[in-house]
Amino acid sequence: MKHFINTDEVEDLVALANEGLVLKKQGVGKKPGEGKVLTCLYLNPSLRTRLSTEIAARKLGMECINLAADSAWKLETRSGIVMDGDAAEHLKEQAEVLGRYSDIIAIRAFPLLKDAQEDYHDDFITRFAKYCDIPLVSLESGSLHPLQGLADLMTIQETKKVARPKIVLTWAPHPRQLPQSVANSFSRTIQQAGFDLTIACPEGMELSEEYTGQATLVHDQEEAFEGADYIYAKNWSSFHDYGRTIQRPDWTVTQEKMSRTNQGRFMHCLPVRRNVVVSDDVLDSEASLVGQQAENRIYAAQAVLKNLLSQ
Ligand code: CP
Repeated sequence: MKHFINTDEVEDLVALANEGLVLKKQGVGKKPGEGKVLTCLYLNPSLRTRLSTEIAARKLGMECINLAADSAWKLETRSGIVMDGDAAEHLKEQAEVLGRYSDIIAIRAFPLLKDAQEDYHDDFITRFAKYCDIPLVSLESGSLHPLQGLADLMTIQETKKVARPKIVLTWAPHPRQLPQSVANSFSRTIQQAGFDLTIACPEGMELSEEYTGQATLVHDQEEAFEGADYIYAKNWSSFHDYGRTIQRPDWTVTQEKMSRTNQGRFMHCLPVRRNVVVSDDVLDSEASLVGQQAENRIYAAQAVLKNLLSQ
């Protein structure tokens, strides 16, 4: 594993998830990151990603530097541009300098949600990777949130009661325009691990086929909930009518809908808008796994950093 940008590049994702769960139970032991530097570049806000990645790095013995992009020079990312505007620095120099200062670089750069081709195949992290020859970790890219996907897989591995649980990813309402990244990564990691997945969404809100793979697609949320062991709720804007949002308050996850499941567990990556995405009573119930998911972000990051340090 040279980088951790897309879980498809991980040879054995289940083994990596299991490694994270072992680190959770047994701790790190000898610190493989001593004397090494992790630089985390944030183009967008974060609570869980920032803290869990820093905790993971420190537990491995690494120094962790967090750099907010808006506290550095305004950046130009395009090639061949006459830089006579606001941008004082080019991505090429930024990537080279950060590479010289660091042993691993991690980046959060959300999609702009204007151009699917750019967000999915030519986003900030993809451009940065062209100019950087040290390991890169995605802290959420234009199309994926792989550390979240890995932590979610770990949470299911930890809590499942049957070998092949019914796992449902459901679209849920939100007042803002959101990326598809968390949903794409959940879909990929779950299927990479060999589980079946049902995706429920209103018509027109289907995810990219690049990431839905063999998932069963349904447009009736209540039908999808029948007998489910896990309900993963997430809003995303439209992929096929790129970036379009819709208002469908009837898709909020409620206790009444959860009663159709097989005593299903509720999952969400957080942050979550209460009584918009999911009702208070679901989020406050024993069924909710959101805290465990957030905790597992530490061990997912630890497993990934430890692997990259060993390359
Ligand atoms: N789930 C997640 O990535 O949370 P943050 O946006 O707070 O980092």
